[in-house]
Amino acid sequence: MSLSLDHYVVIGNPIAHSKSPQIHRIFAQQTQQNLSYETLLAPLDGFAASVRNFITSGGKGANVTVPFKLQAFSLATQLTPRASVAGAVNTLLFDAEYILGDNTDGAGLVRDIVTNAACEITGKRVLLMGAGGAARGALLPLLEQRPSELVIANRTLSKAEELVDLAQGLDSHDMVVRASSWEALDEPFDLIINATAASLAQQVPPIAAIVFAKNCLAYDMMYSENITPFLSFARQHGAQTRDGWGMLVEQAAEAFYLWRGVRPDTGSLLASD
Ligand code: ATR
Repeated sequence: MSLSLDHYVVIGNPIAHSKSPQIHRIFAQQTQQNLSYETLLAPLDGFAASVRNFITSGGKGANVTVPFKLQAFSLATQLTPRASVAGAVNTLLFDAEYILGDNTDGAGLVRDIVTNAACEITGKRVLLMGAGGAARGALLPLLEQRPSELVIANRTLSKAEELVDLAQGLDSHDMVVRASSWEALDEPFDLIINATAASLAQQVPPIAAIVFAKNCLAYDMMYSENITPFLSFARQHGAQTRDGWGMLVEQAAEAFYLWRGVRPDTGSLLASD
């Protein structure tokens, strides 16, 4: 174990509710990394200044949450490919020469689905609901799994079409990637991911029951104490369900790995939920 204590934070506004300190402290203990991890409340108009102060005080890295992921993207002087495609940054690594911006959300989602839920994405028909920041963050890691089909459905169809254009600029030639309105969804999917903000409003996107294939996994990126309306709807139609807790833990593990070069074991945290 190194003797010096390295400092990390999660920056957001609000931030008091964040589970990240709890998760990263468990990872640090488990991997015997000598680090501190705190919350940092940045003023809504003071994100960059807060980051720079933290760097000056010796900070090594930060997670970034609502509403600063786009500002973190602008602040980074280098971007990982997945952050570049996501257009947003949730993890910063500070070096004397540069600020590296990464986005671990999509990788966390995919790892939770493939490894923890044991649901293969390769060759499957996938429906991604939503076309905002959360959906965009998932795009590259999902395509890397090479589903046979990726349909992006959104309330505002033009935004789904923009994401499809983005996907087509990536290496997606052996997959069908297309946009859809809710009403036009008339085929079953093996995996349905809710990346809309509908759950926050206790709403369900207006999808028909036909979308749930036999053995379908319905995944809600949102994590809450009570089952989300989408997962409840999916369960009524025979789907397996999973909320965003595993994604939260896995995106944290990816960030921890970027910072420390050690991959924590997420199993104990996932089992404790
Ligand atoms: P986030 O970063 O969480 O993705 P966002 O970029 O504001 O947030 O995107 C929110 C997404 O949820 C969008 O896809 C939005 O649809 P529009 O593009 O039509 O706005 C979707 N959304 C929000 N509320 C919704 C609701 N009640 N029903 C269905 N989709 C909703």
